[in-house]
Amino acid sequence: MKLVEVRHPLIRHKLGLMRRAGISTKEFRELAGEVAALLTYEATKDLQTVEEHIEGWAGPLVVQRIKGAKITIVPILRAGLGMLPGVLDMIPAAKVSVVGLQRDEQTLKPIAYYEKLTGRMDERIALIVDPMLATAGTLVATVDMLKAAGCKHIKGLFLVAAPEGLRRIEAAHPDIEIYTAAIDERLNEHGYILPGLGDAGDKIFGTK
Ligand code: PRP
Ligand code: URA
Repeated sequence: MKLVEVRHPLIRHKLGLMRRAGISTKEFRELAGEVAALLTYEATKDLQTVEEHIEGWAGPLVVQRIKGAKITIVPILRAGLGMLPGVLDMIPAAKVSVVGLQRDEQTLKPIAYYEKLTGRMDERIALIVDPMLATAGTLVATVDMLKAAGCKHIKGLFLVAAPEGLRRIEAAHPDIEIYTAAIDERLNEHGYILPGLGDAGDKIFGTK
């Protein structure tokens, strides 16, 4: 599995701000979008380009255009919605395939409750977005869903990942790529990442 911890100074700074206790909903949400945009930049580095002949202001010239790559962003409800604006800032024409999964707080198993994928998934690069990769139950179920729809090229963008979850996703789906702003220390007894961000969904939506 390709695993990239994106150790860019801007990302480390912004993630540091997000880890502060008592951060406001507004600030957390803004930073989640900004880090998501930076992760998108990193995760799309390998997109191929083709030459295009255009008429420029000073005459004809050759420019580069992204080669027919059809991208679908896959935000996982609900916290993944917090990263969506930042990803769309970078790829405004992308189709969005929304999936809904919620982790049962006792069993930590994901419960799928929504799936609305765009067409021709077999031709697209899927960019899963979710702030937290904890046990990876949610991610494994999402990748299962995407592969069942024919998807062959899958990348996941996360703000924070736990080593336990990374081992599990590698065992289940070694063919996907993971881009994360941080790999943290471990999970606590409730399946929360330490030091982590706390409950990302609650912080993005201002619940609890
Ligand atoms: C969080 C998070 C991930 C999942 C990660 O969502 O956004 O989707 O938990 O945990 P896992 O790796 O152990 O599966 P949650 O289920 O709390 O739902 P929410 O986004 O609706 O708050
Ligand atoms: N979901 C969260 O929002 N935070 C965690 O640390 C783990 C799962």
